Amino acid sequence: MAAIARRPPRLTVANTLSTTVATLIRVGIGPGTPRLLESQLVPPENFNAFVATAHDGATERGVRTVSQTDLPPDGVLISVEWSSVNYKDALATTATGKVAKISPLIPGIDLAGTVVDGGGDQLPPGTAVLAHGYDLGVARHGGYAELARVPPEWLVRLPTGLDARQAMVIGTAGFTAALSVAALEERGLVPGDGPVLVTGATGGVGSVAVSILAVRGYDVVASTGKPDSEPYLRSLGAAAVIPRSTLSVEGTRPLEATTWAGAVDCVGGLTLASVLTRLRYGGAVAASGLTGGAALPTTVLPFILRGVALLGIDSVQTPIERRRAIWQRLGDDLKPDSLDAIAQDVALSEVPGVLDAILRGGVTGRHVVDVHR
Ligand SMILES: NC(=O)c1ccc[n+]([C@@H]2O[C@H](COP(=O)([O-])OP(=O)(O)OC[C@H]3O[C@@H](n4cnc5c(N)ncnc54)[C@H](OP(=O)(O)O)[C@@H]3O)[C@@H](O)[C@H]2O)c1
Repeated sequence: MAAIARRPPRLTVANTLSTTVATLIRVGIGPGTPRLLESQLVPPENFNAFVATAHDGATERGVRTVSQTDLPPDGVLISVEWSSVNYKDALATTATGKVAKISPLIPGIDLAGTVVDGGGDQLPPGTAVLAHGYDLGVARHGGYAELARVPPEWLVRLPTGLDARQAMVIGTAGFTAALSVAALEERGLVPGDGPVLVTGATGGVGSVAVSILAVRGYDVVASTGKPDSEPYLRSLGAAAVIPRSTLSVEGTRPLEATTWAGAVDCVGGLTLASVLTRLRYGGAVAASGLTGGAALPTTVLPFILRGVALLGIDSVQTPIERRRAIWQRLGDDLKPDSLDAIAQDVALSEVPGVLDAILRGGVTGRHVVDVHR
């Protein structure tokens, strides 16, 4: 993709075809089922993509016209319908993020769309699929484009119970929230054990975690740095909202008064250390993030005196069978019921503003990207 054309205002054949594919996909008959006749799928040779290019310690970003030959040669060709914006996308599109492994890069660690070609008997044209993690949007072109080529072993059939947009409202962040809840429950947490804390609660991981836990009957306490967000968090199902400053403080004692039966933490740093000191006997925290810092200033006392557990959560390399099983549950018993409240739709051209806001910690909920807009 050495010479990507800057996008001129245009109405080209490629654009028209691309819109046609998108329109056909959107009149489909339902998630997870082949929705198009093979003859109807005419992928455009040229199409729109949001591209990040590293230049002299800076990253140039914008919507460009790219061609199918710019995509990796191997994999299943997907007509992308929706992507989303995650914290990692922001890191992948800034020079200091040290996440992008190629340049130019079509970022977008999440995508949902429809198989066009190359899926064989297992994934015939028209199959609704999603993908996220592994090298997507980091070392291989990702979801901020109208077309993508993705290795078949990374693909998940869109689960019954979710459409493509809903799947991207969940996206990597929501999948990580689901992994966190599953890990806590696999260790024994059940509703009725006591309050469950969610930190960074207005963010992507946090919002979906609050909603999943509330649907499952937990008494959810949401921690946030956004004082005005209490109505939002209560609408997702939080029973109580506490300020971030009560956790993210120096001088926390090695063991504080026991408060929470479990916790979903995407903040790390002082916040995670503080959570560990306040877990009830035998409680656990599922830790996935570092918006509050990568250091963990703690002692062994919560572990050896209260039997608490620190459960590491990784969504990137989750083995595909576990990934597919969690997605099935996200369409079923782990399905958040607040997807509309959590989501805001943005066009490809609006992605930079969201990327910048997410790095400032200023984003609430999830931003889904309509790659055809
Ligand atoms: N392990 C994995 O596989 C995995 C997967 C997805 C995400 N993550 C990580 O999880 C974290 C959250 O991701 P996300 O997509 O949910 O991001 P996000 O939407 O930006 O949410 C992060 C939230 O953290 C809180 N926050 C921001 N800056 C903070 C600070 N300095 N101190 C304390 N809290 C702060 C804010 O919530 P409040 O204002 O409500 O406090 C913010 O909304 C990131 O570190 C991301 O890299 C990891």
